[in-house]
Amino acid sequence: MADFGFFLKNILVVSLAMNIGFIWKISYEQNPLSSSSWGNLPQKLHFYTFGCNGEKNNRKEEEEEEAHVSKNTGVLVSTTTSEIPDGGESVVINLDHGDPTMYERFWRQKGEEMTVVTSGWQHISYFSDVKNVCWFLEPQLVSAVKRLHKVVGNAITEGRHVVVGTGSSQLYQAALFALSPPDAPQPMNVVSAAPFYSLALHFHREDNIEFVSIDDRLLEIRATQMGGDANEFNKDEPYIELVTSPNNPDGTTKQAVGKGDKGILIHDLAYYWPQYTPIITAADYDIMLFTVSKSTGHAGTRIGWALVKDREVAKKMTTFIEINTIGVSKDSQLRAAKILQAVSDSCDRANQKEAAESFFDYSYKHMAERWKKLREAVNKTQLFSLPSFSTETCSFSGRTFGQLPAFAWLKCEGEAVDCESFLRKHKIYTRGGKHFGASTEYTRISMLSRDSEFKLFTERLPAIMS
Ligand SMILES: Cc1ncc(COP(=O)(O)O)c(C=O)c1O
Repeated sequence: MADFGFFLKNILVVSLAMNIGFIWKISYEQNPLSSSSWGNLPQKLHFYTFGCNGEKNNRKEEEEEEAHVSKNTGVLVSTTTSEIPDGGESVVINLDHGDPTMYERFWRQKGEEMTVVTSGWQHISYFSDVKNVCWFLEPQLVSAVKRLHKVVGNAITEGRHVVVGTGSSQLYQAALFALSPPDAPQPMNVVSAAPFYSLALHFHREDNIEFVSIDDRLLEIRATQMGGDANEFNKDEPYIELVTSPNNPDGTTKQAVGKGDKGILIHDLAYYWPQYTPIITAADYDIMLFTVSKSTGHAGTRIGWALVKDREVAKKMTTFIEINTIGVSKDSQLRAAKILQAVSDSCDRANQKEAAESFFDYSYKHMAERWKKLREAVNKTQLFSLPSFSTETCSFSGRTFGQLPAFAWLKCEGEAVDCESFLRKHKIYTRGGKHFGASTEYTRISMLSRDSEFKLFTERLPAIMS
């Protein structure tokens, strides 16, 4: 009971801190120029909904979902392709967020096979495995994670502690908490080589706000500050470097670049899967973050996992999540476990005669086709360019190919200095370079949308004249 009181007290304090952060986030995002925001989500869902109507007649469930969105937001969404008078020209194409709906078709084909049924009496306790460092981690998820990494060969799991989080976003915060010392005289710098994943910026304030510390336990929540571009960071003091590889936004393979020997590394490997990049070696870093959002496309399940070498770091990350959300939804963990097992099964069966296509075969082919279409569209105009990638052979699939990033890092070659605003004028919503510590000549475009929206985009892009 005392324990629970302790929990509650902590939760109250953390939720106070989080609310302050949330209010700040909302006010920051109310800036109309800040297109990276989730703040206008209902409005964006409207655009998004409108943009996806090409597939509507075949998708009853989606129609229901979309109707629901419209009820909540009060905006008009009752449209079908035939209702768009100009064949789609008026439609806003929202490719700002990396919402991974492109995989929906694969999972839809699986039908009942993937259904998870939970009875009212199940998953009631807070606890999953009290003997584990991460006591709220479901053993089924551990097995599924370890099996999939072995099947794909993209990360070493032996000698690692698995920590589960509500998305890898929570694990990133947990890692910052675990790695920054409680008694540091000043906030620890967190750096990342530009262009860097913009969410990293959202966790810090430029004016360096600290988490409120009320009792001894919360004193452990330390302040960190965004130290900027890792290429330019040369202070002789400890820092944390976030290495996202393949990188969001530009899809490149990255290594740590921080100078000096005082850097502690967090590797975000959300896109180190064979539909995005050739798998070259099993990653073997101290802290590696993964998520079902980008590996299988289940962003709404909100499950991420960290593979952590050091037991103390894993323990502190667990403490952060304990204070933050008292664990992670068991229902979601078990659903994620089922999905990951299904992906491994589909890979194991891939060589069998008449076996259904494996998830990674499907997703690789789909991504490769999209990149082909996008490059064709870009080549039809002088206004834009895309990065090129050298090819390598994937140890998982045996295929030789160049990166197929989840985002296209498009450069405006014409007179448009602000690529995001330029595309916005043509009703294409993307996220500009400034959100990633890069030039506004660049903008990031999600490659993960539904087919209908992607098709509309590749048709509209070459038609842009000025
Ligand atoms: C590099 C990277 N890491 C983490 C995330 C967030 O993942 P999650 O949905 O698991 O919080 C994203 C989402 O876009 C991402 O691009």
